[in-house]
Amino acid sequence: MRSGVNRVSSLAQQPGVAEQTAAFGGEWLPAEPLSEHTSLGVGGPADIIRVRDTGGLPELVEYLRGHGVPWRVLGGGSNLLVCDEGLPDVLLQLARGDGLTFKGKRVEVPAAANLGTTVMECAKRNLGGMEGLIGVPGTVGGALWMNAGAYGTEIGDVVRALRVYRGSTGRIEMVKTENVRFEYRHTSFAPDDILLAVSLELPERPYAEILERVKQCNQKRRASQPINEKSAGCIFKNPPGLSAGKMIDELGLKGMRVGGAVISERHANFIVNRYQAKAADILKLMALIREEVLKAYGVPLEEEVIVWRR
Ligand code: EPU
Repeated sequence: MRSGVNRVSSLAQQPGVAEQTAAFGGEWLPAEPLSEHTSLGVGGPADIIRVRDTGGLPELVEYLRGHGVPWRVLGGGSNLLVCDEGLPDVLLQLARGDGLTFKGKRVEVPAAANLGTTVMECAKRNLGGMEGLIGVPGTVGGALWMNAGAYGTEIGDVVRALRVYRGSTGRIEMVKTENVRFEYRHTSFAPDDILLAVSLELPERPYAEILERVKQCNQKRRASQPINEKSAGCIFKNPPGLSAGKMIDELGLKGMRVGGAVISERHANFIVNRYQAKAADILKLMALIREEVLKAYGVPLEEEVIVWRR
């Protein structure tokens, strides 16, 4: 335990909270600094429950509801901006579970699996179709939630079924792809759904061919994105038919700095945490960018990064 003083959710005041969560298959991690759980490296504290046994999730969520404690799901933290004040919500985070299970062209993947590792494990079995996603950081569950995409691939294209804790029924259900809408950086899951595992169906391709495509994507990404700096990927969605990065670049905003946050010189739709930025710095820079783009192009930019405010 980090500090008894730094309690952030009301659940922390419950006696025996660690034992209770353990009984539902969770591990109680109080007042975790979210700057250590996000790729941007900013964000105040929140209580995390690491879910080690997803079978216990229905009871765990019921327990949180019973105590009136709000909760959210924390994935790999690679597309997430958390406010400096921290959160009163309990964050549920799936523990890295079992490995991948292969059956012909199908593969069952736990939501907590790392996306890049999954792409490469599939490649070794001559299963392709996800090469474009190779440099996208984070978990498979996070990628699914946002329908992550790059270089012509969107993860939604290869999904066949999902195992989901449904907030609406309080049960774990198998959901077919037909019943989910995968759109540009958006899906139709409800905020209280928790993705637990996914079944992918992938096209068969020789390993060498997949590897070649992976290399090309890595090269393109290295050349055009600030992969060695702390960021959350693209900050804004591309408005239909337009490129957010191009517009921000054309306005000459690359290199603009607020506190420790800088608009990347390599890709204008990336904000990097270069000098120990606060979340507030990044939010200010985002507001500035939106204002300038709206003034110059009449286009309101929509956040691509998920922002958690108190
Ligand atoms: N451009 C500039 N200046 C810049 C950045 C881009 O002029 O600073 C121009 C490029 O030259 C190109 C166009 O804008 O003509 C588009 O740029 P790019 O190919 O880099 O793609 P993007 O639309 O900016 C999208 C995704 C990325 C994904 C890449 C590669 C969004 C918001 N972004 O970027 O995804 O990696 O394509 O497929 O959809 C993310 O989701 O976090 C992300 C980084």
